[in-house]
Amino acid sequence: MLLKRIMIACLFICIFTLLSACSTDEPSESTDEVTSEPTSETAEETESLPTEAIFPEVELQKKDVGKHVKLLQYALNQIGYDLKVNGTYDEATTWAITDFQLQHEELMDIGVYNEETRAILKQYLNENNQIDPGLGLPYNTETTSTQSGSKIIGNPYDQLSLINKDFALPADYIPEDLVVPDVRFPFTEDLPKKQMREVAARALEDLFEAADEEGLELFAQSGYRSFERQEAIFTSNVNLHGEEAANTFSARPGESEHQTGLTMDVTSPDIGFKLIVEFGETDEGKWIAEHAADFGFIIRYPKGKEEITQYQYEPWHLRYVGEKAAKEITEKGITLEEYLL
Ligand code: DAL
Ligand code: ZN
Repeated sequence: MLLKRIMIACLFICIFTLLSACSTDEPSESTDEVTSEPTSETAEETESLPTEAIFPEVELQKKDVGKHVKLLQYALNQIGYDLKVNGTYDEATTWAITDFQLQHEELMDIGVYNEETRAILKQYLNENNQIDPGLGLPYNTETTSTQSGSKIIGNPYDQLSLINKDFALPADYIPEDLVVPDVRFPFTEDLPKKQMREVAARALEDLFEAADEEGLELFAQSGYRSFERQEAIFTSNVNLHGEEAANTFSARPGESEHQTGLTMDVTSPDIGFKLIVEFGETDEGKWIAEHAADFGFIIRYPKGKEEITQYQYEPWHLRYVGEKAAKEITEKGITLEEYLL
């Protein structure tokens, strides 16, 4: 009888030990493998995304990567866009932001996710509003080309648009927010070339003010040019120099940054207000090379980069790209082509 009880007790102990071994917290090798492996792309995409969409409280722009961009893309999808939540501020994200800005008159149409844009996007989420994607800027899936073979870009509003011999603006693109910056010009007539897009005009005013404080005499010579104006200038240069030579310093219509309204050619009295390479050697030219980026401008056609830009050195041609891009481009000594491509 005692033996029987001892045997039953042993049996219980064995069963209990066995059960405890099975329920241990220590994961077995195979369990660990399964849980640490991402199960699918969707799981990876939504990883770290909150249950409720939020618009991140940081400024974001083309080429930015990371969790804030992911949050932005996810939130944009909640209000009606259909973006890939890949964490890269790509062309599609730039398009969505530009499209949203074009549908809201109070916003600057520049493709940058800034504080003003965030404020209105947040209202959409809070009020459960839906956007009509493409109503401001149709999403361009077809690539059309100019006669010379350059591709016509789909988003001419983008502050970081690349315009060169490979990428052209649509012939009918006219910026909607052209203004005359409050800076010095070496002529008094009210010409269209005095104009720039608002974001660039305000930055140019700041740049001129800073140059003034240094006792420099900067003058603005040539800003916005329509497609038709560029056509006339290019034709005249071709008649004078031949097409190949002309195209080393003068852009074909559609391929000129002047049509973006984000560019201004600057000069000084020391060189008779001309646009010549000697500008780079003047006090004004040297100051521009050193400080333009602080105001969001780059020297678009630098010396030694002619093979990349496909234009001669132009120390006078300033292109607005915003402070963040301008500083990186200038610090690295690269061109807009190298920055974007
Ligand atoms: N001088 C530059 C390349 C232009 O014509 O736009
Ligand atoms: Zn120029």
